[in-house]
Amino acid sequence: MSHVEEDTGTRRDFLYVATGAAGVVATGAAVWPLVNQMNPSADVQALSSIQVDVAEVEPGQQITALWRGKPVFVRRRTEAEIEAARDTDLSDLPDDNARNDNLGEADGADQNRTLDEAGEWLVMIGVCTHLGCVPLGDAGDFGGWFCPCHGSHYDTSGRIRKGPAPENLPVPQAEFISDTVIKLG
Ligand code: FES
Repeated sequence: MSHVEEDTGTRRDFLYVATGAAGVVATGAAVWPLVNQMNPSADVQALSSIQVDVAEVEPGQQITALWRGKPVFVRRRTEAEIEAARDTDLSDLPDDNARNDNLGEADGADQNRTLDEAGEWLVMIGVCTHLGCVPLGDAGDFGGWFCPCHGSHYDTSGRIRKGPAPENLPVPQAEFISDTVIKLG
C-alpha cells in the first residue's frame, strides 16, 4: 500500500496545491517613484499618479514601475525594435486597436502606441490581457513580450500577435514632463 493511500481520509483535506500565475517582474534599472509633496493630497496623488525617472535607461532596456498596483513596463526601444513594430501590416494584428488611454479611438499602428513620435519610448501596463500574468520581456516569437502562462506572444509594440490573449497590452495615461521623467496617471 502506498503512502498516499494510507493517508486518505482527513489528511487529504489539507492537501493544498499551489497553482496560478508565477508572474515575473524584470527590472533592468532602478525606478524612482517621486511623490509631489507640494500637493495637498499627496497620499491620493501617490496612488493615482507617479513619476518615473528614465535618465538611466539605455536603448534595449526596460524598467518596471509599480503603479496603481500593477507593473508598468517602460521600454526604450532599439532602432530594430521600432522598425519591426512600424513595418508590421495592420492586417496582421489580431487586435487592431491602439488601446492607448492617451488617444481616443485609434488603430493599432505603432505610432498610436508610443510616447514619443520617434517611437523610442513604449509604456504599457505589464499585465497579460488573457488572464493577468506578467509577460516576460525580450521574449516570444515576435521579439517583444511572452506570457508563459498560456503562451501569448506580443510584438515589440506590445501588440498581441499569437496565443490566447485577446487584446494588446494597454498603454496607460502617460507623458514626459521633462526630458527624463515620465508621469504616469
Ligand atoms: S495569462 Fe497570459 S497567456 Fe494566459
